[in-house]
Amino acid sequence: MPATIIDGKAFAARVRTQVAGHVTRLKQDHGITPGLAVVLVGEDPASQVYVRSKGKQTVEVGMKSVEHKLDAQTSEADLLAVIDRLNKDPEIHGILVQLPLPGHLDEDLVINSIAPEKDVDGFHISNVGLLGTGQKSMVPCTPLGCLMMLRDHHGSLSGMEAVVIGRSNIVGKPMAQLLLGDSCTVTIAHSRTKDLPEVVRRADIVVAAVGRPEMVPGDWIKPGATVIDVGINRLDAPEKGEGKTLLVGDVDYESCAAVAGAITPVPGGVGPMTIACLLANTVTACCRANSLSEPEGLTA
Ligand code: GUN
Repeated sequence: MPATIIDGKAFAARVRTQVAGHVTRLKQDHGITPGLAVVLVGEDPASQVYVRSKGKQTVEVGMKSVEHKLDAQTSEADLLAVIDRLNKDPEIHGILVQLPLPGHLDEDLVINSIAPEKDVDGFHISNVGLLGTGQKSMVPCTPLGCLMMLRDHHGSLSGMEAVVIGRSNIVGKPMAQLLLGDSCTVTIAHSRTKDLPEVVRRADIVVAAVGRPEMVPGDWIKPGATVIDVGINRLDAPEKGEGKTLLVGDVDYESCAAVAGAITPVPGGVGPMTIACLLANTVTACCRANSLSEPEGLTA
């Protein structure tokens, strides 16, 4: 039987509709408009695209969007001063500092200067610790999106074998914590893992988050397993025309889809869920800041 394609684009649209509903209620019933501030330092083209997209989608769900674009030479003190003002601004419920930062800025220091309750990326050390100990936290957007899709597809994940390939702070580690929180048996595999194919073949759930194009072939996948592909890799595609590129994931889609029970495509899988979850986190942060009940289904 061919694999079910998990449609992240459609799922993200549903999440945005839910978020917009909560925003409407917050405005009508409480006179509160959730606000998200995005800070971009420098002119990295990919970051500029992301930031524009975040701003547009924030406005589309009815929230307030603030963008701080600082030049690449901005000093750490000036950046920290911007974050401090946003921390104290009652109209701002979520703050995101776009990564990577220029080399002269200490990313850990900058991220840890964001008020943890406004850290909608879930990268602050307090949120990392809260997630790791199973307490209420802000959860990183990409793993949260993966978890939502997995829960939607499977219902309960309890007892399933999950293998996360990749150990980044942004995806691999928080993904593993979330799967553990849903009672999976979790393995984190990485570049030094011995006999990676055998490890992956054990998995009922495979999450590939390594940033290496098409590195997981179909013969690593247990028949019927669910494959979540976090990779977004741009390859040159001269066969499509001069200067053309092709987006591929970290798994070889054709061969994995032939064996898997369900799979996320690239593009249109995990990618669209990241910004949808950022909006969800901003509504969650706004509800918490105002001691209101949290939106159901939008948190871990
Ligand atoms: N750069 C690439 N992905 C992300 C992300 O999820 N959050 C932030 N802040 N920067 C990024």
